[in-house]
Formats: sequence, C-alpha cells, structure tokens
Amino acid sequence: MMGTDRHAFVVVANRLPVDRIDGAWEASPGGLVSAVAPVVREQAGAWVGWANTHDDSLEPFDFDGMSLVPVSLSHDEHQQYYEGFCNATLWPLHHDLIVAPQYHRSWWRAYREVNARFAQAAVEAAETGATVWVHDYHLQLVPAMIRAQRPDIRIGYFCHIPFPPVEQMAQLPWRDEILRGLLGADVIGLQREADAAKARQAMQKVLGMDPEELRGRVGSYPISIDVDEIRAAAESPAVQEMARCFRRDLGDPATLMIGVDRLDYSKGILHRLWSFEELIDDGRLDARGTCLAQIAVPSREGVRAYQDLRDEVEHTVGRINGRFSTLGRDVIHYSHHSYSTEEAVALYLAADVLLVTSLRDGMNLVAKEFATARRGRGGALVLSEFAGAAEELDQAIVVNPHDRAALKAAIHHATMLSEDEARRRMDAMADTVAAFDVRRWAQAFLHDLRDPASAAALSPSDW
Ligand code: G6P
Repeated sequence: MMGTDRHAFVVVANRLPVDRIDGAWEASPGGLVSAVAPVVREQAGAWVGWANTHDDSLEPFDFDGMSLVPVSLSHDEHQQYYEGFCNATLWPLHHDLIVAPQYHRSWWRAYREVNARFAQAAVEAAETGATVWVHDYHLQLVPAMIRAQRPDIRIGYFCHIPFPPVEQMAQLPWRDEILRGLLGADVIGLQREADAAKARQAMQKVLGMDPEELRGRVGSYPISIDVDEIRAAAESPAVQEMARCFRRDLGDPATLMIGVDRLDYSKGILHRLWSFEELIDDGRLDARGTCLAQIAVPSREGVRAYQDLRDEVEHTVGRINGRFSTLGRDVIHYSHHSYSTEEAVALYLAADVLLVTSLRDGMNLVAKEFATARRGRGGALVLSEFAGAAEELDQAIVVNPHDRAALKAAIHHATMLSEDEARRRMDAMADTVAAFDVRRWAQAFLHDLRDPASAAALSPSDW
C-alpha cells in the first residue's frame, strides 16, 4: 500500500496496534486494540502510530485488514517527547502529582513537533469528510492541528487517563495550548463524568469558554474490555490447566492473592505490599497459608521515577520474603515480566483475591477482566476508590489505599467472604462489565461523534 491512500476512518494513537517480534509484525494485546481494530477493519480504515522502533524508513503497510501508517521518532524525540513530556510531565500531572511533574521547554518543543508529525500523517491518510479518532495524552495538540488544515474532517478525541483538577492543570506552562489543542475535536471523551467535569472546568477557567457550549462536546465514555475474549480464555481447558499449575507451583496456598499491574507509581503497589506485611505482623494473615503473586509489567524503564519505584518495590519484596518465607516457599512471588492474555486469565482463575490499590487510575481494566473471568467462580476484588472502575464495580471491596488501616481491613475482609457472598458479588460485577463491553464503548463514542446533537441528550447511563 502507498502512503497516498485515503481512508474514511483513521485512528491516531501513540502506538501502532502491532509489535515486531523476530522480524515479523504481530497484533499487540490490549483493550484499545481489541476495541478499535474491528472498527478500523470494517471501514477499511487506517491507524497512524509509532512502530516502537527508531527505523525511520518504514513505509505504510497493510496488517489484518488495516492500513498501518508508521510515524517515526528519533532517539532524542523518544526521550524528550515520550519519556519526557508524556511520561515525566503529563502522566504525573494527570495522576494527582504522585511524583512531581517536570516542566522543560525542550520537552514541550519535542511534544509539539511530534504532534505535528502525527497530525500531518492523519491529514494525508484521511479522505474528504473522513472521521479521525485521536487517542490519549500523547497527542493532545493533534485535534487542533488537523482542524487547522482540514475543516471537512470529523475529529474525536478520547483521553484514557484521568483529567487533573484545574488547580493542578494550571501548573502546566502550556495549559492554554493543550486545552486549545483538545478543542479542535468535535467530541472530547473522558473515562468518568468527574473527569469530563474537570476538563470542562479547565476550559472554562483557563480559556473563558461558555459552559453551555462545552456540555454537548465533552462527555464521559468509560472504557471496557473484550468480554468475549476473556470469557473464551476462562473456558479454555488449556488455560484452566495453566491455572492449576500456577497454584500448585505457588505451593498450593490456602489463600492466593494476586496483583497484576504495569510497574507504575500510580498503581499503589507499595501500599499493598506494606499492608500485606503488616497483616502478617498483626497475625491477621498466616504467612504459611498465604501467597501474594505480584506481576509487575516492565514500563517506561528510561524514566527515573519508574527506575526508583522498581528499586523500592524489589527492596520491599525482598524484605518481606526475608522475614516470612520459608525454604522453598516464598510469601511473595514477584515477577517483572509481561504476560499474555491467557497467562493473565489463568492467574485470575488460580487466585482467590485480586488487589487493585491504585492511587489514581483512569479505569483499571484488570479489575474488569478479573470479574469477567471469575463469573460463577467467586473470589474477591479489593478495589481502590481512585480507580475509574470503582464507579461501576460497586460490589467490590472498595477502599482508600492511602488509609493503611482501611486497606488492611479490606484485604482481610476479602479473605473472609463467604462463598455465597463472594459469588453473588463477583457475578454482579461480571454482569455489569458484560453490559458495557469495549465494543459498546467504541460504538457509543462513534455514535456521538457522528451526531453530536443527540450526544448532548445522552448520558452514559443511557447507553
Ligand atoms: C496507559 C495509557 C496508554 C499506554 C499504556 C502503556 O494505559 O493510557 O496510552 O499505551 O498506559 O504505556 P506505554 O507508555 O507503554 O505506552
């Protein structure tokens, strides 16, 4: 395929939906890909994104019914745009300043230049009157950059991460440019109504916009998971066998707790480790009968705050294992690796309790996957009230992870649920997730993008 091909539907995201493994392209796992790729395929559309390589000779290519348009990033741009502005400025700004955001003009310049490159690629891929759907905090200038060149295009923007309160957003030296960038879109979507309200408030206060005008354009669309894929994995005999092996290999504990996260400070991994340790100290958890399996998926390893977090998590795991493990049996099984969907689902099936202790989280799809995989099987979900998923999964044991006594009580409570109660709660959560899976999320957003007049009348509870 040549780069001059034009499409009626174009997705723009930081990453392409593929990874290059041993020289061949393979579909990358993840919610965004399973939600959006079918829509791209149906409309013979294009996906503009970074190919996770510094090879700038990559031409557009077809993959599984989609036209993929690689955007190249130099090594310096990767550092300044991706590791710098995206993940050391915007990420902490959007996650309650858990670490201090850094503001550097050189990073901002790289962000602007890379956003312009993505916008140009989208403009070239879009036919007259096309729909372009821009994703996430990496590309907030892209909507206005496309709009400036192509008033004919319908532009949607979805922010996958939380939106900061206006007092925090106000710190950003380039807040006006970012907000104007977003406002190039016809519809701006956020995860929760609380995030949408914060975005509207920032636009009102920083740019002096009319709240009435914003109401129909900035709304909430809580993202979900591919329920069919998770159900199919949970019913697969091979995955069930893998679950039995996991449990056996972990020493067949009376209670198996799990944590499954990217290794990110927003996930509250240390908070759960500290609570786990104190619960053993208190005697409320029995070190001989309990195991915590923590999967920490490597993430943003070039960013200092992530390196520091890894050191602290590994030090803490080492200390707790040193104190409570016995020869041949660790109380914490820690793994710093990525995993496949099948392995994750096997771990969900093997577990009794999932710990989601995010300090701030746009949604948390692991919580939704766990409930879906465990329908009819019971088990307990400890879920931070600061994860977007807590709004929908109110049958979880919802907790403030900053409150150590409350977090310990929640984890202990999770180990004490009766089988009936556990099953009732898990089934209710699984049904909630099934009612709004990721396809409905994409449909709802694209419906409103086609017809913003009706969007003003819709609320998330309508769809
Ligand atoms: C979050 C973001 C995504 C991002 C993912 C993984 O979920 O919302 O846009 O792709 O983290 O992070 P990475 O930096 O590896 O793309």
